[in-house]
Amino acid sequence: MNDDVFVSAEELDRQKNFEEKDKKILFGRLRRAPKAYVHTFGCQGNVSDGERIKGELSLMGYEFTDKPDDADFVLYNTCAVREHAEDRVFGNVGALKPIKEKNKSMIIAVCGCMAQQKNIADVFKKSYPYVNLVFGTFASYRLPENIYKILTTGKRVFDTVEEPGRIAEGIPAVRDNGARAWLPIMYGCNNFCTYCIVPYVRGRERSRKPEDILAEAKKLISEGAKDITLLGQNVNSYGLNADYGVDFPDLLRMINDLPGDFIIRFMTSHPKDLTNKLIDTIAESEKCVHHIHLPVQSGSDRILKLMNRHYTRERYLEIVDYAREKIPDVSLTSDIIVGFPGETRKDFEDTLSLVEKVKYTSLFTFIYSPRPGTLAAKMDDPTPSAEKSKWFKELCDLQSDIASQRTAAMVGKTYRVLVEKGDEEGYLMGRTGGNVAINFKGDDSLVGEFAYVKVTKALTWIVYGEKV
Ligand code: 5AD
Ligand code: SF4
Repeated sequence: MNDDVFVSAEELDRQKNFEEKDKKILFGRLRRAPKAYVHTFGCQGNVSDGERIKGELSLMGYEFTDKPDDADFVLYNTCAVREHAEDRVFGNVGALKPIKEKNKSMIIAVCGCMAQQKNIADVFKKSYPYVNLVFGTFASYRLPENIYKILTTGKRVFDTVEEPGRIAEGIPAVRDNGARAWLPIMYGCNNFCTYCIVPYVRGRERSRKPEDILAEAKKLISEGAKDITLLGQNVNSYGLNADYGVDFPDLLRMINDLPGDFIIRFMTSHPKDLTNKLIDTIAESEKCVHHIHLPVQSGSDRILKLMNRHYTRERYLEIVDYAREKIPDVSLTSDIIVGFPGETRKDFEDTLSLVEKVKYTSLFTFIYSPRPGTLAAKMDDPTPSAEKSKWFKELCDLQSDIASQRTAAMVGKTYRVLVEKGDEEGYLMGRTGGNVAINFKGDDSLVGEFAYVKVTKALTWIVYGEKV
């Protein structure tokens, strides 16, 4: 039943063959290792895809650079979730034109969610003649073949056909951070929230086999990963379309039972599929952090219906109550869209009151952005954008009050965190299980290790502490 979900072994072998050929051609022409610049926009799912694309490139002999000017292959891995994300890509690709004029043999490629849309691929075809390769999310595993076509014919390649979407196993990930790792457990989405482009550009839900996920988790742990995030558009529907007999809570428990000192995070959880079993499993799994990213999108039942979210405000609050009962220190975060078509002041006030009730640790807030091809893009949207911006600010202000109360309550408490290089000069940073960053002073040798940090001072969004 599940066989057509996977790229066949023969096809993977065929691509391996192209990898070898590409490597020979590239080394022959350049007389050195080719260099690639890969830039990823958007969500963690995209970051994880980018790591596997880098894996494919490394098998073709590519080394990596962080300067497009130095590269023989430049790739933008794009996001389509809001118009702003797409505009940034067009800007970045536009800036490559003079670089390409200096280095004519450079291959410029665009992939990911934006590239998967036919109308966008056409824009690259017509208006960006120096872009050599455009490939959608379904075609990632064919990168070796597509590069081969370009190297041998010099022609531009557009590989953006719509397919059911398949999982290619066995492609290694080139990861930037040894201690923090992304582990995709499923791809695609079946939910068709009316505002969202994702189901169109990433295809239907398909789940990796539990044994493949466990094998990758073991490998990550053996390589030193200490903070593993399980990824899926909706992890709660893991396994539901397959016959593995393993659902998401089962999978979480299996990973929790692997030996090693590491923590497990996961995202994203759709409230409609979140079960008490999952909450009980989080409570009972000692490696699983006490954090649930649970996008509510809106606090108004009327808008939730128009969004096709399949839960009510009441049901959402029930989940929150159950989570807080079973996991008293649970940290909840959410995504909220302001200004969905037809949203009124009354609907927006329902969102404010929900946010006030739940008291999230943090919120990702977005002004609605119409995505061509989605149902919401055809809905009447009479609210002026200035009004939406006012609401947006009101929501941000409310959340920053809540966040200050939350961070103030952390002062004096001690947290176990995985140490990372900080953003702030002279500081290290550690993320709590609830996903709050604490800045503290310490030796760089601590990076990648767990440490206990006591919070000494809290500003609205930044928390400072001392190693204990
Ligand atoms: N406009 C604004 N925000 C959107 N999101 C998804 N689609 C849109 C859109 N068209 C937000 C949702 C989702 C998050 C990843 O992006 O809140 O949870
Ligand atoms: Fe988009 Fe909804 Fe799927 Fe999330 S669950 S990716 S918001 S359609």
